[in-house]
Amino acid sequence: MSQPQESDRPWRHHWALSPIRKLWQCFYRVYTAPRRVCARLRRYDLWRLCQASWVKRALSRETCVAEIVVHYHVVEKGLTMPGRRLNFGHAMVTLLARQCLAFQETFGVEGTPQVRHAIAVLRAYAALHDSSARAEAPVFWADFEDLLAHLPEVPPATQPHVTREAFFAAVHADFEAFARSRHTLRHYAGPLPIERVRAAVALACETAPSACNRQHARVRCVSDPALRDRLLALQNGNRGFGHLADKVLVVSADCDDLLSPAERNDAYVNGGIFLMNLCYALHYHQIAHCMLNWSVSPETDRALRALIPIRESEVVLALLTCGEAPECFDVAMSPRRPVAEMYTEV
Ligand SMILES: Cc1cc2nc3c(=O)[nH]c(=O)nc-3n(C[C@H](O)[C@H](O)[C@H](O)COP(=O)(O)O)c2cc1C
Repeated sequence: MSQPQESDRPWRHHWALSPIRKLWQCFYRVYTAPRRVCARLRRYDLWRLCQASWVKRALSRETCVAEIVVHYHVVEKGLTMPGRRLNFGHAMVTLLARQCLAFQETFGVEGTPQVRHAIAVLRAYAALHDSSARAEAPVFWADFEDLLAHLPEVPPATQPHVTREAFFAAVHADFEAFARSRHTLRHYAGPLPIERVRAAVALACETAPSACNRQHARVRCVSDPALRDRLLALQNGNRGFGHLADKVLVVSADCDDLLSPAERNDAYVNGGIFLMNLCYALHYHQIAHCMLNWSVSPETDRALRALIPIRESEVVLALLTCGEAPECFDVAMSPRRPVAEMYTEV
């Protein structure tokens, strides 16, 4: 129903006086109008999302690369995982090899650093397994070797093995050295003093910029091991290392700090900026940490809210596992795209 236009209604004075009319107008302004604006913006957002090639099921080159990156990252993580076992992730390794092959046939592999890195990760996986490890799964290895034979000969990827001292050596250096030294850590050892977490969170809160300085972000720290395990069980990206983290941070943003439907994405934008600041603050305080996505169903989101008190007006953005770094550990390489792919002067 569209909003009545006062000007083309001769009986408007009569209506204006009517208590029913007043009530209706009040209801419209307070209840209906904001919801209609929200619905319109939601339709626009949905339309925009539907322009992505994965929705149209006609995958673009960009989406194929994104899928390959996600899959090589799973294998790369596996290569650096604490207590890594051999012959992990056969299904993922085979899928990745097939995708690299398909990509090569469709687009050509030359000049695609991300796909070349995926192949390097596959070669690192192969190099890790000697003949006795391969003998445990002969069918997989015969199939995988056959796929590898059709992929370019790139050197196996290496995942940096570093000491804690070397990893945190640049925390007091200039910004470039500091920023380049920050990496996700999935190795944790022993308890992490809560004072260090408080100091890092305070640094992030007191320095993160936000729209009109509204400071939308909220952080909750979970230390109880049983609660931590129940929280992490709701998230799909912490297998193999989450249980080693001494603490989990739940980062959210409060939509009560938004003032109009047009600001609908601001909780995520401001929260994202805060999250990056928090990662830097944790790194500065030498806290090993890993951001965990919160791309979940409404049921899982509700399950999290049943575990810890979060206002209904808040959106959960991400979790972070935190812990003390061990003496030495592996870091997943996660190479970046060439800057030219990300930066354009228009
Ligand atoms: C929003 C977000 C969600 C992430 N989710 C996960 C996750 O679920 N599991 C995980 O192991 N790493 C996760 N990561 C960490 C990324 O894998 C990591 O940041 C990326 O590979 C770049 O590596 P770096 O942080 O060492 O530079 C996430 C990172 C971001 C920013």
